[in-house]
Amino acid sequence: MKVYKYGDNVDTDVIIPARYLNAPDEKSLASHCMEDIDAGFASTVEPGDIIVAGANFGCGSSREHAPLAIKACGVKCVIAPSFARIFYRNAINIGFPILECAEAAEGIQAGDTVSVDFGTGVITDETTGKTYQAAPPARLRPGHRGQRRPAQIPEGERCGEMNFKIALIRGDGIGPEVVGEAVKVLEAVGQKFGHSFTYEEVLLGGCATDAVGKSSPDGTAEKCRACDAVLLGAVGGPKWGSDKPAEQRPETALLAIRKDLGLYANLRPAALRPAMADACPLKKETAEKGIDLMMVRELTGGIYFGQRERYDTPDRGVECADRMAYSEQEIERIGRRAFELASLRRKKVSSVDKANVLETSRLWRSVMHRLAEEYPDVQYEDVLVDNCAMQLVKDPGQFDVVVTENMFGDILSDEASMVTGSIGLLPSASIGDTAPGLYEPIHGSAPDIAGQDKANPIATILSVAMMFRYSFHLAAEADAVEAAVDAVLAEGWRTPDIAGPGVTPIGTQKMGELICRHIG
Ligand code: IPM
Ligand code: MG
Repeated sequence: MKVYKYGDNVDTDVIIPARYLNAPDEKSLASHCMEDIDAGFASTVEPGDIIVAGANFGCGSSREHAPLAIKACGVKCVIAPSFARIFYRNAINIGFPILECAEAAEGIQAGDTVSVDFGTGVITDETTGKTYQAAPPARLRPGHRGQRRPAQIPEGERCGEMNFKIALIRGDGIGPEVVGEAVKVLEAVGQKFGHSFTYEEVLLGGCATDAVGKSSPDGTAEKCRACDAVLLGAVGGPKWGSDKPAEQRPETALLAIRKDLGLYANLRPAALRPAMADACPLKKETAEKGIDLMMVRELTGGIYFGQRERYDTPDRGVECADRMAYSEQEIERIGRRAFELASLRRKKVSSVDKANVLETSRLWRSVMHRLAEEYPDVQYEDVLVDNCAMQLVKDPGQFDVVVTENMFGDILSDEASMVTGSIGLLPSASIGDTAPGLYEPIHGSAPDIAGQDKANPIATILSVAMMFRYSFHLAAEADAVEAAVDAVLAEGWRTPDIAGPGVTPIGTQKMGELICRHIG
């Protein structure tokens, strides 16, 4: 694997000169790629090599042949601070990865060994040990390129409008209400940044049990897989309780969709938003230190997916067992996510286990220790789960990235959410190695307040921000959503769950409208 390095303004006519546009096939296009600035390129380039270039790569005339020629050479991706608009779009249309990252384009030198994680957009220069965060391109699917709205941001600042197909799982209880507001926010972002969205309604949860007799109707995963991302409100409710058969229970469907889509990494950021400092139930000195942690929960393994048993015993009545199993491979892939995230944050990983008792935890710990050696810039610590539960209320500011197995993460993330004021504020992203990712608030379906315009839509709206960041790699759009939420909170608007004494709360819809207004 080699890096080829070029300067600013590499023109499409340099990438593939006009005299070869009639080349009979991609192979002959490839044989003339870069000929006019680097005569040796086509004969030395090998599959997996990377091009690192300066700003405005692919400028000049619009030419689909340009990304085609590079792709046909076997080049893995092009990294540059910016791409010409048409080149960007053409590359996306033919499925050729391009990554915008000014720091990487400057820092990586010809001859360095570079690896790229297209899932997270993390570029690692293995020669220098530096990592960079890129904004890799979103996918455009031929089937759903909708009407493009005019971009209201200046030409040249962005590389094109996108069309995304989003699966909506509105679910049960307050799910439909909070998803409704999140869709309004998607539309507001679309208006502002020139993107458009197509929605696919997917039935899942108790509502699906009512409609078709099972909580996860046939074809659910396929429907989601045909989309770029999934937005989920909440599922569950007393009507479909634990006395019902598994296939009718909403929770079974939620676990199944996570597993079927391979979403092994659940990111649950717990941050004390500036305007919410008063809502922190901890001591003032503790809140003042700030809370900004990322819980990385393993989501498709462990006890939630192990074998379940129920049997009679001769002398002790009924006995049950739930098996908890973890493989090295499952631990390693979630561990890597945690270390990569930490290297882009405050560079600390706290791995939570119960290694003083559980064999799965001992394996967990040994894999994490091996990974810690691979990330020398990241500070690492082991924390026992019971101690972690205590530390989260004693001094949550000490944590940056907390990585843990499925059940511990389920429990600790609820605790972390409350420390930041309300479970109604916290979003989550569930991601795997391939699209689509699934985005959902961490709260449940709150049947007691369903249909009353009382639910807090912020957690779902912030989940949309995570969708922009992690699935679409559109950081400016994600920032715009988060800034709008912070602005509305700073103005003092509160839904009932976060309204302190003397504050008149507003409803779900009003909260959604105010956030949209700040985006637009
Ligand atoms: C969550 C929920 C789910 C889980 C339930 C509803 C299955 O508690 O997302 O945290 O345990 O993962
Ligand atoms: Mg939970």
